[in-house]
Amino acid sequence: MSDTADLYQQARDVAARAYAPYSGFRVGAVVIADDGRIFTGCNVENAAYGSGICAEGNAISNAAAAGVRKVDTVIIACLDGGECYPCGNCRQIMREFSVDTVVVQDGRGSLRTHDFAAILPHSFGPDSLQ
Ligand code: THU
Repeated sequence: MSDTADLYQQARDVAARAYAPYSGFRVGAVVIADDGRIFTGCNVENAAYGSGICAEGNAISNAAAAGVRKVDTVIIACLDGGECYPCGNCRQIMREFSVDTVVVQDGRGSLRTHDFAAILPHSFGPDSLQ
């Protein structure tokens, strides 16, 4: 099994633990930090809908809590059909940690690899404040 396929399977495994009783849309994310460490996250919803947290944000928060400040790659899986491109808010969270590459599954379960700049062009980031 290739690295990417193995990490995608890890994203599916964590998606299976998503807490998504309201949408029924389970998402998992795997983060590869610049030092090679791997972190995972799933979406965690809330009865106050706006308080739910996405899988990608949770995975990056887990990495940040372990000291990571640069993320190389995020791999995203969803178990309940369709594509799982990251939402706008998660793209902005990725921007903060200088993500280079995002791997998403398409509607048929195949993987697509994107340069981050292609999915969040002309972005606002830490350097924009200097
Ligand atoms: N969701 C994610 O976890 N990541 C995304 O990038 C898009 C959406 C979650 C949020 C919510 O729990 C469910 O999917 C339906 O929107």
